[in-house]
Order: sequence, then structure tokens, then C-alpha cells
Amino acid sequence: MPNTTLSADTASKPRKILVTSALPYANGSIHLGHLVEYIQTDIWVRFQKARGHECYYVCADDAHGTAIMLKAEELGITPEALIEQVKAEHERDFADFLIRFDNYHSTHAEENRVFANEIYTRLKNNGHIAEREITQAFDPEKNLFLADRYIKGTCPKCKTDDQYGDNCEACGATYAPTDLIDPVSAISGATPIEKQSTHYFFKLPEFESFLKDWTRAGHVSKEIANKLAEWLDSGLQEWDISRDAPYFGFEIPDAPGKYFYVWLDAPIGYMASFKNLCDREGIDFDTYWAKDSEAELYHFIGKDIVNFHALFWPAMLTSANYRTPNKVCVHGFLTVNGKKMSKSRGTFINARNYLNFLEPEYLRYYFAAKLSSSVEDLDLNLDDFIQRVNSDVVGKVVNIASRCAKFVTRDGDATLAASIGEPALWQQAVDAGEVIAGHYENRDFGKAVREIMALADAANEYIAAKEPWKLAKQEGAEAEVQAVCSLGINLFRALMIYLKPILPNMAEQSSLFLNDALVWADTIEPLLNHRIEVFKPMVKRVEKDKVAAMVEAGIQAQPAAQASKEPATPDSPLAAEPLADEISFEDFIKVDLRVARIVAASHVEGASKLLQLTLDIGGETRNVFSGIKSSYQPEQLEGRLTVMVANLAARKMRFGISEGMVLAAGDDEGIYLLEPDSGAQPGQRVT
Ligand code: MSP
Ligand code: ZN
Repeated sequence: MPNTTLSADTASKPRKILVTSALPYANGSIHLGHLVEYIQTDIWVRFQKARGHECYYVCADDAHGTAIMLKAEELGITPEALIEQVKAEHERDFADFLIRFDNYHSTHAEENRVFANEIYTRLKNNGHIAEREITQAFDPEKNLFLADRYIKGTCPKCKTDDQYGDNCEACGATYAPTDLIDPVSAISGATPIEKQSTHYFFKLPEFESFLKDWTRAGHVSKEIANKLAEWLDSGLQEWDISRDAPYFGFEIPDAPGKYFYVWLDAPIGYMASFKNLCDREGIDFDTYWAKDSEAELYHFIGKDIVNFHALFWPAMLTSANYRTPNKVCVHGFLTVNGKKMSKSRGTFINARNYLNFLEPEYLRYYFAAKLSSSVEDLDLNLDDFIQRVNSDVVGKVVNIASRCAKFVTRDGDATLAASIGEPALWQQAVDAGEVIAGHYENRDFGKAVREIMALADAANEYIAAKEPWKLAKQEGAEAEVQAVCSLGINLFRALMIYLKPILPNMAEQSSLFLNDALVWADTIEPLLNHRIEVFKPMVKRVEKDKVAAMVEAGIQAQPAAQASKEPATPDSPLAAEPLADEISFEDFIKVDLRVARIVAASHVEGASKLLQLTLDIGGETRNVFSGIKSSYQPEQLEGRLTVMVANLAARKMRFGISEGMVLAAGDDEGIYLLEPDSGAQPGQRVT
């Protein structure tokens, strides 16, 4: 187990480190919540590589399970086709956020089948697998066993209908799915029956004392260890690792029709992805995974999947004679503007939606500035985001280079001075390196960023005090201007070396400007008598309008498909949108629906989903922005009749005021504008 604080010793001796992020489900898009994890891990990995360690970062799509099988069925494609599409999308999103995996694989891969079979067989040979009959809800129409989240019914306590699985969203009651009144299958609507089936269980209770020690041995933080102790003290249960056909996954050896539960082969996917990398690049797999391995293994995960990684996984690895992780690094969840991400508020932000408007490094910097090693949730406050990135990255760091670069000229050459003007200030920046490295190592990125920004402040104060722009106008002060600005540029370089794991693109551009590779050596030597290039700003300021447009696009995009969690999500991808609460006739008649003629339609600049419509409702025209661009060209619409809500309060949007709404059916797959039969006249009321 390596020291968690970086000593001079560990800094100089290259370590062998294997790092993973949790494998995202292959049935939904990457969103900013996911990115907390992938950005955090990527920064840590880039830091380790920058320090000269042999570090590999592997990940994969988590491609198995019922949710993926049903989603593919719903789309009318094979699960293989679905997971291939989603994997390509995930890889693009990650690459565009500058997340640099050494390998990105899939759990639906041959390497994973081999390891899953091997590990299962070892567990079985060790007597750690039990086999017994269980009774479960079964959908007689779909011929499918139903997990709790695929059963709906009326809450036995408060009688609210349409409640999922084993708890009521209305009153919070918990119960067995069999207690639901009038239970139905959320997939087919059929009434479930009870059916018996043989299942295989991993005998977790046999690992109780091993896990009590393991969870207290520094492999998880204290707060996580305390949480795990609650489970450990209340007694572990055997873990059901099998599912009946039909299931998208790996069939269990010697058990036809039985499949490994997705969570059995998902963490094994870490090994499979690494094996795939080893085979491609000639790395020795056993160096990293053998029982006596001296390499380090780190898993980065969110707080919702701790039991899988800190209980089941180390127990499985131990039984199967593999090494266990050095650390399971657990982060909290993302909130936006202090609340859970919400589609209707436009704060459920998909990776691609963000990238359509903003630079990836803004988010990388903001997350880094707020990340710590604790499991606390992290808030993306959009105003603070704009302010913070602009004031730190642009206002402090880039500013140093932009203020100094133009004065670094000597004999017409842009060459840095031959010595450091104020050695104490330079030394302060060099000495901060080990402190900053320690914070990175401990995943206290927020502290690292504060340390770096304190250096930036010191550099800016120095430049402000020396006022090189004034000196430059004085006769005979050339050498001093040169000294001040050369130190400024050297300080900028030190800052960029420290920020490189967080801001790799900006570092690359700084590299070109400085003619220097920005290597993080133990003691950074200054650039003296060194030629630099013409300064060009490395980043633009975050524009408030772009952030607003991103949020608006999120609102327009709903209802959007989102990743559904394999364990317990109320919104199964398959469930049809539930009907809204009943309303009275009086309520209905309040909605003034009118036949409208679309007299003009046009694109809206800067809006990816919206068309602007001019509607004639019989002597009155209305301006309406409508999120139908994905399915209609403006010229297709002009002259057509549709139906609009004419008494909807006007809504101020970024692009103008929307005075009503046109009616359309649809979802992600398509949008279908309502149109009255021919003969209807603009302005006629629709009832
Ligand atoms: N497939 C499983 C992981 C298997 S690992 C062997 C899974 N996938 S997931 O797509 O739902 O989540 C992937 C990672 O993203 C998890 O670590 C999860 O905690 C994290 N996050 C998902 N939503 C998140 C937020 N809103 N905020 C922060 N992290 C989040 O779980
Ligand atoms: Zn209830």
C-alpha cells in the first residue's frame, strides 16, 4: 500500500499504477454528472503521468443487463447494435472532454467472458457459490422474470397508483412488490404471476471478517468505511449473481439458460479492458493483477455503487486469487444550481449539449476547483462557473503572459533574460510544486487549484508593482523591463506546468508559445536566454449568453433519453409516459385551442432545436418559438394548418417572446405536428 502523501522518495521512483473509472451504462448519453468522475480520474492520471510514473487508465461501456436488452427491443435493433452505437457516442464525448483513456473497451467482449468464467469457476471450486430455488414475479406475456423496478401498482399504504417496485414515491412507504394492489408488469401491462427458478448466489457472509479488516485498512476513506460498517454490522446477505433468460449477458458455464447478473461481470470489465490493452501493447497483465502484485490499483467511482466495489468486488478477487484494489476513491453527486439535475429546468446537461456551446476546459477547471477527496456532493452553480473561470483562468493566469509577452524583446528578439530578477519570488513558485503535487496525489484538487492561484496572485502583484508598461517608456530601463517580464513569463510557465493535468489544451498552446515541453521536474529550472513565440490568448472568456443558450437547448430537448441506472430507477426506458392527473371539464375548457395557419417559418440563429413560427389565428398573428426543428424544415411548414394554445402566458426566451404553443406529439425519435382536417379555418376554436 503506497503512502498517500507524496514523499521525495515516491516522487523519484516510478510507480506502476492502474486506474479505472466506473463503466457507464451503454443505454444512455454521458451527462455532466458522469463527467465529475471521468474528469476527476483523468486529472489524477495525467498528474501521475506528468510525474513520470507508469500509469494506465482503462474504462469500458457496461453493456449487459435487462435495461439494455429492453431498450434495444424498443428501438427495434439488436442489443449488439445498440451497444456499438452508444459506445461510439460515449467515446466521442469523452475524447471531446479531453479524457484520455489508455483503453476503452466493452464488457460485452471476449476477454470479459473469459475472466468472468474463470472467476466464477474459481469461486465455485472454493465453495463460495450456493444454488437454490427462489420465487419471483414473472411476466407471463413477455416470458420474463421481473425485477422490482419493472412492476407497477397501487401503493398498499396511501393508495397512490402507478408506483414502482418496492417503494412509494408519494408516501415513502417500503414494501414487497407482492404487496402492491393490482400489480402489473411495467413492460407489457400483464398481471405478473409468481414463478420458481434456480439462482446462483455468491456467499458474501463468508467474507465478513475479511471485509471488516479490509474496509478499515485505508482502502476507502473513513466516512465510507463507517458507511460500510453499517452493512457489515447488520449482517451480509448472499448475493444473487444469476438471471434467467432472456437476458443480454454471458451464459453461466454449465448452467444453460442462466446468465451472469450484469454487476457480476461489470467490475471484471476493468480486468478485461486492461487485458485488451496488454495484448495490444505488450504489457504484462500479471504485474498488475497477480495476488502478490506490487503495482497499484485505483478505482474511481460514485457514492451510489460503493457496495459493489468495496464489498462484493474485493471478496470476489480474494476468492479468485487476484490482488485487491489499493483504493476505491469515492466522489459525491453533481447538483446544478444547488438542486438535483432537472430536465425541465434545463440543468440535466448532456455532454454533447455542453460541448455545442462551451469549451471542455471551462468545466474541467471548475470541477477541479471544487473537487476534494470527500464524498460530498459537488454543485455546479452556473453564475459562479462563469465568474470563476473568467477571473481565475483568463483574469489571473493568461493575464500574466499577455501583460509580459510584448515587453520581452531584446535586440528585436523575443528572448527571455539571462537571469531571474527576483529569486525569492521564483523560489516560492518552485517550492510550491511539492505541496501542489501532494494535493493532486490526495485528490484534493481544490486545494491544488487554490495553491496555484495564490502563486498567480503573487505574480500579478509583482507585475502590478513594477509596472513594466511605464518602465518601457523610460529611457535606459530596458534591462529592468526585460527582467520583470522574463520573470513574469517564467512564473506563467510554472503555473501552466502545475495546471497541465487540468487544462491540457491550454498547456499545449502555452507550450507552443514558450517553446517548452512543460515537464514537471522535481525542481523546475527557469527558462533563461530562451526564445519565445508571439503571444496569442490561449482561452476565451466564458460568455454568459452561451451558458443561457445551453440551458435553453436542454429545456427544448426534453423529453430526452437519459441513462437509466441498472439498479432501481423509476423511469424505465420502456415505460410509456404515465398519464397526467385527471382534470375537470372546467379545467380543460380554460385552455383556448385555436386552428392556426403557419404563415412564415424560419430558423433561429444560435438555437439548435427551435424554429420561429408566425401564426395566423384569424385576424391576429402570433410569434411562437417551437422545438420542432429536428423534424421539420421551415419551407415544409409555410401554409400549413395546425393547432395552437392561444391563451398561454407569453414567455420571454433568449431569442424573443413566444406567444403561445403549437401542438405536436413525439419524442426523441420524431416530432409530429397536429393538423386539422381540411376545411378548418384559422381562428376556429378547438374543443
Ligand atoms: N454501470 C455502472 C458502473 C459499473 S462499474 C463496474 C454505473 N453506470 S452509470 O452510468 O450509472 O454511472 C457511471 C458512474 O458515473 C458511476 O460511478 C456513477 O456514480 C457516476 N455518476 C452518475 N451520475 C452521477 C451524478 N449525477 N453525479 C456524479 N456522479 C454520477 O453505475
Ligand atoms: Zn404510498
